Amino acid sequence: MKRYYQLLALLFVLLSLSLVGCEGDTSTNVGKLDFKNSLQIPPILEPITDSDGKKHFTLTMQSGTTEFFQEKQTPTWGINGSYLGPTIRVSRGDQVSFDVVNNLNEDSTLHWHGMRLPAVMDGGPHQMIEAGATWKPNWTIEQPAATTWYHPHLHGKTALHVYRGLAGLFIIDDEESKKLPSEYGVNDIPIIIQDKIFKGDGSFNENMGMTPFGLLGNQILVNGTHDPYLEVTTSQVRFRLLNGSNARAYNIGFSDDRSFSLVGNDAGLLPEPVNLDRLLLSPGERAEIVVQFNAGEETILHSFAGKDGIENGEFDLVKMIADNRLSTSSQLPNRLTAEPPIEVPENAKVRKFELTTKSAINGKKMEMDRIDEVVPAGAREIWEITNNGWDHNFHIHDAVFTVIDKNGKLPPIYERGRKDTVFIPNGTSVRLAVDFGSYPDPDTPYMYHCHLLYHEDSGMMGQFIIVEPGTESQVSKQLTKGRHDH
Ligand code: C2O
Ligand code: CU
Ligand code: CU
Repeated sequence: MKRYYQLLALLFVLLSLSLVGCEGDTSTNVGKLDFKNSLQIPPILEPITDSDGKKHFTLTMQSGTTEFFQEKQTPTWGINGSYLGPTIRVSRGDQVSFDVVNNLNEDSTLHWHGMRLPAVMDGGPHQMIEAGATWKPNWTIEQPAATTWYHPHLHGKTALHVYRGLAGLFIIDDEESKKLPSEYGVNDIPIIIQDKIFKGDGSFNENMGMTPFGLLGNQILVNGTHDPYLEVTTSQVRFRLLNGSNARAYNIGFSDDRSFSLVGNDAGLLPEPVNLDRLLLSPGERAEIVVQFNAGEETILHSFAGKDGIENGEFDLVKMIADNRLSTSSQLPNRLTAEPPIEVPENAKVRKFELTTKSAINGKKMEMDRIDEVVPAGAREIWEITNNGWDHNFHIHDAVFTVIDKNGKLPPIYERGRKDTVFIPNGTSVRLAVDFGSYPDPDTPYMYHCHLLYHEDSGMMGQFIIVEPGTESQVSKQLTKGRHDH
């Protein structure tokens, strides 16, 4: 019997080696790029503004082809285009509405990751948009400036839909954020990082489950551009980094080891800029950084070799080439935001979640008709997440949190701001101080899940509802009763 397993293991190793052999080394692109393509900047989508200032946007999910490599057409999906979607940019206080048109030939959804909004507008697995249908969400932007994003979220197929190209940035401005470089495409530049595997004919390898973490690619696209360079024209540039990959984490820095200022995490600005030279971004996380450039210099935005798991690999992302004359921008403010830190009450409710190598949370796989947690509107709670297997991360919808500690210690300096997604490597326990949204709706759940999309699709996701404070136990009782009657 033992022999049999050994043989099986050997076979598996040989098989994986041969797979790596035909797809190329999955762990680096360093030395293989020429930086010959100008970095594409997703266009800003102009809204139609009605007489009372409400902003209306139309997003159309569609299929097409994209030329990432010269004379090779890759079948892709995009929003208002063939790959990725436009950038939506609004201000705090704006009322927004959308027509989300599904012109694909299959059902999908569109989720506003990082947005605080009523559950029926969230675009999760319960807000299906059938092929050919249009979904019309609307809400008011009631949160501080942040770099959020949008992507499909239909249960079981999120990985594939995002991988094919359905994703875009959703920027919120406010008075504070406008003091930072804000000229889109000039000194305020999106950097959407995704890894891919291409087949010989140019099409994507879509083997979502190729590693225990999902697909780990060997080619990098930034804003949908392969082999990119960026011409820098100002002495100070704000980059909005989004890890839009399915599974890979990036240990971000510059090839010349220059330092930069971190000014914001997922859910908003930091109280003051923090000087850094490395920053880890797991899937779904964002960071805003401000980088200083000297005239005529070059540097490469780089992902440095990390540990194993989803940090494995080393990649060049974008070469940045500064013009011989740079226009100078004003100094970075010392105070970025006056937004108070998230403080939880003494007797805050503590909820515990365990992640393992099974794609489940607390041993339970996602079920569309099971509510796992009932949270009072506006609650501040401690969520304690322990990872006992493989690398994962954790994202909570309609919430903002700060990381209290990681294995009992303060989190790394780049993880101390306002967040909605946190990296939890194998063997790590984190405590989060979570601020929940304030729209009660006992009928429509929000999600929390691992943002490694293959894990999420395989069931590493749970559902919570936000209820009128004081009604939680009553609602919970009805839920258990409902499940027993079932
Ligand atoms: Cu970015 Cu629940 O997702
Ligand atoms: Cu989300
Ligand atoms: Cu995971």
